Amino acid sequence: MQHFLDIHKTDPDALRGMIGQARTMKDGRGDRPRGARDDDQPLAGRMVALIFEKPSTRTRVSFDVGVRQMGGETMVLSGADMQLGHGETIADTARVLSRYVDMIMIRTFDESTLLEMAEHASVPVINGLTNRTHPCQIMADVMTYEEHRGPIAGRKVVWTGDGNNVCASMLQAAGQFGFDFTFTGPDKLAPEDEFIRFSREKGVRVTLETDAFRAVEGADLVMADTWVSMHDPQSTRERRHNQLRPYQVNQRLMEAAKPDALFMHCLPAHREEEVTGEVMDGPNSVVFDEAENRLHAQKAVMRWCLGV
Ligand code: CP
Ligand code: NVA
Repeated sequence: MQHFLDIHKTDPDALRGMIGQARTMKDGRGDRPRGARDDDQPLAGRMVALIFEKPSTRTRVSFDVGVRQMGGETMVLSGADMQLGHGETIADTARVLSRYVDMIMIRTFDESTLLEMAEHASVPVINGLTNRTHPCQIMADVMTYEEHRGPIAGRKVVWTGDGNNVCASMLQAAGQFGFDFTFTGPDKLAPEDEFIRFSREKGVRVTLETDAFRAVEGADLVMADTWVSMHDPQSTRERRHNQLRPYQVNQRLMEAAKPDALFMHCLPAHREEEVTGEVMDGPNSVVFDEAENRLHAQKAVMRWCLGV
């Protein structure tokens, strides 16, 4: 069994293998109904706990549906309703859950909660987003780029706005999948040095550029996310909006990228804030394929974790 904690902690060949398997499984489903089971049932007899300490639409539904398509069962737990939210230690929770279920997916605040869960669980633990990273999202993003445009290696990916958890995982993916990464946003909101170093040491170009129009020159993929994440205090909202307005992805900015550049957003999006409706619904946007691919990519992640 293996944990899926972060893109930079997972072997690049394993990541590549998961993307390939996700694609095969997606193609293999053809146009059968969403609720129909896959022909093979690798999770038959398995129970997966899905723990949420923050809200979720995509992660919750895609994991739940993915497990069922593969023949398993799920139990969705809210952190606040568990004893975890009332003082039981993470370590004890991990030990107890490991006696009941075959795998744990957790969305939480501090990364330390995820790491402690993984340290003490005897079943695989999957990172469903922390304040610091969101690796499942990026598996779907790489899959989506390649589905539309072929290999992502050697391409130029531009992240606009806040250097948040999703940005961090995409930056880690640059090193693992071999693409160049440019961050454009205020210096204060740039991604962590540790992740910049990680990808630079892998030999890819990582650039920080405060001018959004210069940043997107030659871009193959432009990405955005909310300006205020779930863990950010609401008191930062107004300041963030003022700081980040120049980084909004609008038609004018997309026109400064390559003509066939794709636009991606992990969603939920705040239309007319970090991205205009025109771009979201425009011909270069693949945001709903990206959302769908959460399902396929995570099915491959779960199979890898369980070795099935
Ligand atoms: N992109 C993403 O993780 O969405 P949810 O917050 O709805 O799960
Ligand atoms: N950066 C966002 C991603 C949501 C999927 C957040 O953490 O709120």
